[in-house]
Amino acid sequence: MKALILSGGKGTRLRPITYSMAKQLVPVANKPVLFFGLEAVQEAGIREVGIIVGETAAEIEKAVGTGERWGLQVTYIPQLEPLGLAHAVLTAEPFIGESPFVMYLGDNIVKAGIAVLADEFRREQPNSMILLAEVPNPQDFGVAELQGDRVARLEEKPAQPRSNLALVGVYMFDKHIFEAARAIKPSQRNELEITDAIQYLIDQGYDVRSHQVTNWWKDTGSLDAILEANRLVLEDLETDLQGAIENCDLHGRVAIGKGSIARNSVIRGPVVIGENCELENCYIGPFTAIGDGASLKNCEVEYSILLEGSRIEQIESRIEHSLLGKNVMVQKSDSRPRALRLMLGDSSSLTIP
Ligand code: TTP
Repeated sequence: MKALILSGGKGTRLRPITYSMAKQLVPVANKPVLFFGLEAVQEAGIREVGIIVGETAAEIEKAVGTGERWGLQVTYIPQLEPLGLAHAVLTAEPFIGESPFVMYLGDNIVKAGIAVLADEFRREQPNSMILLAEVPNPQDFGVAELQGDRVARLEEKPAQPRSNLALVGVYMFDKHIFEAARAIKPSQRNELEITDAIQYLIDQGYDVRSHQVTNWWKDTGSLDAILEANRLVLEDLETDLQGAIENCDLHGRVAIGKGSIARNSVIRGPVVIGENCELENCYIGPFTAIGDGASLKNCEVEYSILLEGSRIEQIESRIEHSLLGKNVMVQKSDSRPRALRLMLGDSSSLTIP
């Protein structure tokens, strides 16, 4: 069995972060999202992995390399335009060949991993197996209608969903998916939809089964979703104090990396702080992940992700529900005129109380 990880796409919902980096490399609990997928594939006993890459190919290749770190053999597959998930499948046909495979969306995290599902697929050899999860907002997802445990119908982002079962970003296929992807037409948003390809399999009488995920799963493609994924992953954080702590109050589980120092601060976990960070007179609240080399002075941060090199200084209001890119600076100035001075990239958002 092979794996196909999708790491191309446009990432419009995570702008402006995705103007300068691949959304699959945005860290969740200080680990790039994509690495969760690579670990899941490795745990499922799969070795041969194809990664679909688009405009951010160089960055993805630099981060993942040969895949040796995970005991994987990685092949990069350029997709010239992000024309949909079923288009990505067709692009990967020369790599997949006749092998059954798991397709994993590179911006998804599945808490329970995929080992059990992969074993079931290997054992029972249906033509396809999809993962489903109950969601409160099915209209934002691909939605499945079941008859018993058979999948009867799939719809992409339906206005009137027929169930609350959303398609999770992990799918198992055999070679018939190529026939399906070739048979379908682009959707209204001009993408070859994987839901249409799976519907083709169902209509042709192929064996399409479903598997409901019981533990959590997150697509990290939007601000709310990635902060929530960060919270869920940090729920399992273990205390690991490698940096220095001077005169601080630590509550709950906190991890601080090598070369970091926290002084005169209150840190309420779960919180992860990378390497070579400096914190002084801060309150760091639960569900916060701070990347390497960040510097925080006289400020309060909670339920947020700060990428490497962020600097926050002398900010009275608590910063929460925020995602700061690399080397972002937020500081107070006492000089006149007393005005907000902004340099925000396209699609940035700033909320002031
Ligand atoms: P999506 O999140 O559905 O699409 P997107 O990345 O274009 O994001 P947005 O809607 O914010 O513009 O994609 C799911 C995953 O699949 C993600 O890791 C990107 C990847 N992908 C491809 O590799 N090729 C494609 O053609 C598409 C549509 C997505």
